[in-house]
Amino acid sequence: MTKILVATDKPFAKVAVDGIRTVIEDAGFSFALLEKYTEKAQLLAAVSDAHGLIVRSDIVDSEVIGAAKNLKIVVRAGAGYDNIDLAAATAANVCVMNTPGQNSNAVAELVFGLLVYAERNFFNGTSGSELKNKRLGIHAYGNVGRNVARIARGFGMEVYAYDPFLKAEDMEKEGVKPVNSAEELYQTCNLVSLHIPATAETKNSINYQLLKNLPKGGILVNTARKEVINEAQMIQFLSERADCKYVTDIMPANHAQMQDKFADRYFATPKKMGAQTAEANINAGIAAAQQIVDFIKHANQRFRVN
Ligand code: 3PG
Repeated sequence: MTKILVATDKPFAKVAVDGIRTVIEDAGFSFALLEKYTEKAQLLAAVSDAHGLIVRSDIVDSEVIGAAKNLKIVVRAGAGYDNIDLAAATAANVCVMNTPGQNSNAVAELVFGLLVYAERNFFNGTSGSELKNKRLGIHAYGNVGRNVARIARGFGMEVYAYDPFLKAEDMEKEGVKPVNSAEELYQTCNLVSLHIPATAETKNSINYQLLKNLPKGGILVNTARKEVINEAQMIQFLSERADCKYVTDIMPANHAQMQDKFADRYFATPKKMGAQTAEANINAGIAAAQQIVDFIKHANQRFRVN
């Protein structure tokens, strides 16, 4: 029987798991669940006879793919697939997909949770500042960036974006002011929200040279990936610019040092929380299950990334 494994270190909401199970079982496949695993060996064992795999930020490297002798498809229930070894998957004839857009409202809402928290001085009782009339820069205008722009308008913010892969008029149509470079975005905006994926080109790209463009009182909010930040240079920047703050949903490698040095200007969530809502879990999890069924039954390769 065709077996579909859901392997999530950070579990989906139960209602989402129930929905995924229904889609898989209604298709005549068997459903298996591995949650909160602590050892890679547990994943290797669970995947050994699976034909399809649904993951979140779980690492699917060449060892996992090598251990899964029957595997035909992996769906990353979410946007970023930097956790999956695409070359190893392609070499093993395994299709890899993501579920773009399905969790983006959840991530965008958290951006504003983090921004309000930072502007109100981490709720420490001192007088803070408002988002209204501030200039918000969206660094990469994809599914999350679009939702951020929509919500920002409700806060009365002026919205700018930098995205070299999009036409200016496509952003302008949505009431967003496009800028020509990342430097211009950071110079122009009081607050910048990061939405770039972690790729060979973007890793470490948020460096001192870029950050130093932020105006007085600047805040960087990161709900993307920790790898895009050059952490040593972020520490240098925050040391020199006591007026600036960094709030992130992805704990940096140097978290302890940053918390120690910049306690009143730095915050990281203990676990990535952006997509951790029942709604996002249902949307992304069920989309992943449907994509697997459509791939196995009808060879539908929409959303394939390798
Ligand atoms: C994504 O890439 O979809 C987000 O970073 C969410 O990741 P998560 O599913 O691990 O919470």
